Amino acid sequence: MVSASWLSLLLLVALATAASAQLSSTFYSTSCPNALATIKSAVMAAVSQEPRMGASLLRLHFHDCFVQGCDASVLLAGNEQNAGPNLSLRGFNVIDNIKTQVEAICKQTVSCADILTVAARDSVVALGGPSWTVPLGRRDSTTAASSTTVANNLLPPSASLAQLISVYQSKGLSVTDMVALSGAHTIGQAHCPSYRAHIYNDTNINQSFAASLQANCPAGSGGTNVLAPLDTTTANTFDNAYFSNLLSQKGLLHSDQELFNGGSTDNTVRNFASSAAAFSSAFATAMVKMGNISPLTGTQGEVRLKCSATN
Ligand code: HEM
Ligand SMILES: *[C@@H]1O[C@H](CO)[C@@H](O)[C@H](O)[C@H]1NC(C)=O
Ligand SMILES: *[C@@H]1O[C@H](CO)[C@@H](O)[C@H](O)[C@H]1NC(C)=O
Ligand SMILES: *[C@@H]1O[C@H](CO)[C@@H](O)[C@H](O)[C@H]1NC(C)=O
Repeated sequence: MVSASWLSLLLLVALATAASAQLSSTFYSTSCPNALATIKSAVMAAVSQEPRMGASLLRLHFHDCFVQGCDASVLLAGNEQNAGPNLSLRGFNVIDNIKTQVEAICKQTVSCADILTVAARDSVVALGGPSWTVPLGRRDSTTAASSTTVANNLLPPSASLAQLISVYQSKGLSVTDMVALSGAHTIGQAHCPSYRAHIYNDTNINQSFAASLQANCPAGSGGTNVLAPLDTTTANTFDNAYFSNLLSQKGLLHSDQELFNGGSTDNTVRNFASSAAAFSSAFATAMVKMGNISPLTGTQGEVRLKCSATN
């Protein structure tokens, strides 16, 4: 009895250590020393051609990590890509193109999961945000996620503060991490169906802001392709304006304004709105934590030859 539970405790500790110990920022230092520079210049080129691409790449990494861990499952054709119109993920071609460039310098060495993680960091930097060191060594999944897994791990924009806190907590992310990561909505765009209910039915929204959005996003249905910036002031700059917007009830999504609606996260929003440095530092910390959610390491999974398909 005693020795059996000791053994399982030791096994648990060993497994936990192995899972995190295998990610290392120097993982490709000898096997592919130019990997990071190659990813960075490709991201810089894509973002300078279309600034919104930085937002799209950051969002791809978030969806990858929240569904089945950061294993590039989001890049496989299937449920994660097509789980509803409000997902509308983009940037797959940019990742495929980066993978082609990386394969040309180091054959089947750098995983798609790592490329996506580094591309998310480089996207933030390209749009003027903070930088951080990315732990590396993730491997790629051999399966896509089921639609149930997608639905259970990604919240709709109608989510409440309690639901947001609970989903992030289930990933080992704190309430502060949650508020900081939401600051990613300082860049990028959303479709009318994602914010329709908020601009017509919610009361915690600035009325002239709501009216200007209503002009292009009809009440009943339609407006499927209409876009609005998530940060109404500086859509293509990674800054802390998202939080100032929340203070003046100009969050685009219901789930955004939930972070500043008289609840437990109000003070964190005020802090990030008043201190760009506090936000940058919390965001960088939370991105590393998010990037470390359930990676495949060692001999698990594979290094894909193409990001859009398993080997
Ligand atoms: C769990 C809470 C979250 C919810 C409910 C949420 C919801 C959404 C929605 C509804 C959109 C617009 C989709 C559309 O209408 O096309 C969006 C876009 C976006 N999200 Fe989130 N999101 C969340 C968390 C995050 C996190 C943690 C990140 C990154 C760290 C992120 C990054 C982005 C970015 C950058 C865009 C714009 C993408 C583009 O322009 O292509 N989101 N999000
Ligand atoms: C967004 O996705 C969620 C989860 O799949 C779904 O419940 C919701 O109806 C979708 N909303 C829109 C506007 O498509
Ligand atoms: C607003 O709420 C009403 C009543 O719940 C509902 O019938 C209507 O569809 C909602 N409108 C939008 C744009 O979500
Ligand atoms: C709503 O936003 C408008 C335009 O930015 C501003 O002039 C107005 O004072 C705001 N209203 C409230 C109640 O804060």
